[in-house]
Amino acid sequence: MTIPTRITGLLVKQHGYNTTNPEGHIRFESMDPYIELGEVDTPDLASGQVLVEMSMAPINPSDLHFLKGEYGQPRVQGKPAGFEGVGTVIAAGDDAYAQSLVGTRVSFAATPTGTGTWATHAVSDAELCIPMPETVSDHDAAGFIVNPLTAAAMFEDAKSAGSPGVVLTAGASQVSKFIVALARDAGLESVCIVRRDVHNDALTDLGATAILNQNDDDFDQRLKEVMKTHKPRFLIDAVVDATSTKIFNAMGSNSTWLVYGSLSAEIPPLSNPGEFIFMNKVIRGFWLAPWLSRAPMEEKIEVFGEVQARFADGRWSTDVAATLRLAHAPTELVEALADPRGKVFITP
Ligand SMILES: NC(=O)c1ccc[n+]([C@@H]2O[C@H](COP(=O)([O-])OP(=O)(O)OC[C@H]3O[C@@H](n4cnc5c(N)ncnc54)[C@H](OP(=O)(O)O)[C@@H]3O)[C@@H](O)[C@H]2O)c1
Repeated sequence: MTIPTRITGLLVKQHGYNTTNPEGHIRFESMDPYIELGEVDTPDLASGQVLVEMSMAPINPSDLHFLKGEYGQPRVQGKPAGFEGVGTVIAAGDDAYAQSLVGTRVSFAATPTGTGTWATHAVSDAELCIPMPETVSDHDAAGFIVNPLTAAAMFEDAKSAGSPGVVLTAGASQVSKFIVALARDAGLESVCIVRRDVHNDALTDLGATAILNQNDDDFDQRLKEVMKTHKPRFLIDAVVDATSTKIFNAMGSNSTWLVYGSLSAEIPPLSNPGEFIFMNKVIRGFWLAPWLSRAPMEEKIEVFGEVQARFADGRWSTDVAATLRLAHAPTELVEALADPRGKVFITP
């Protein structure tokens, strides 16, 4: 295997956080202010690090929040972007486990001490690499960590809360679709909130119990009916806007509002303090990063195995809107991201 001296990638153009004029959304007019095709030196590998020859990487909302400087870690100007991907380990630093991965196809997460995945090669930590069987396709393996693990962890949370079902905002997102399938297989109900009907057939085919369009005139009435019939007590919310408050208000005692995304720039009103005082309702957050470092290794291995099995036997699959070449991404990305059918991927 040839170890390259230079890595070609989509390099981050800005630095740090955007504290001056945060936009609070992930719409882009142009990628020009944010990324450019360029080269960096291949870093020397520290102990425990690996060099991965990239096959494919997804573009997730977290990547887009990051490019805007509005994510949980600061931008580093001049480094390739991209938080996860799939590829083959071609070199390793001074560590037996890292070296045992050389030649192995892995799904992996990028780390702040390594380099990003929207590139020909990426440096990451061996402990963040999951060996991937060929039965899992490149599109599924590329997005193996961020969304599937988030879906699995949050669904476990909902089950532990004893809720008969879940309510999902951004109901047609990849995370929500994974949760709809988990709910279907566990005999739980799923209520999907969408903003356009284009998603309804796919969600019905997946087994969603109810689909509500938040822009419909009769949304409030249908929400009331669905809450009365199904009584879900767990709201899994990636949007966080006035509709989220409306949904939470319509849910009964002992309900949880789990916030895991921030797709809307709106600040939702908290209209009824009595919900927290008299009805034991709670709002809390979920972020995968601390979950990954906190969860016991046995639990993680079990979840990784379950996710692999679901992709391999087709219970889960990743919807693809477009697969772009690295060199074309700066100009083609904005249009590709507007396609509601699925995710956008990058190949070298
Ligand atoms: N906390 C964590 O650790 C963690 C981990 C993974 C993902 N996430 C979050 O999970 C969310 C979903 O990620 P994903 O990759 O599954 O998304 P995705 O597949 O890219 O889909 C995004 C979905 O969000 C909808 N949407 C966007 N803006 C919206 C708004 N203002 N109001 C209502 N719907 C809106 C889109 O609807 P249209 O089709 O109508 O455009 C689309 O269906 C993101 O917020 C992401 O940041 C969080």
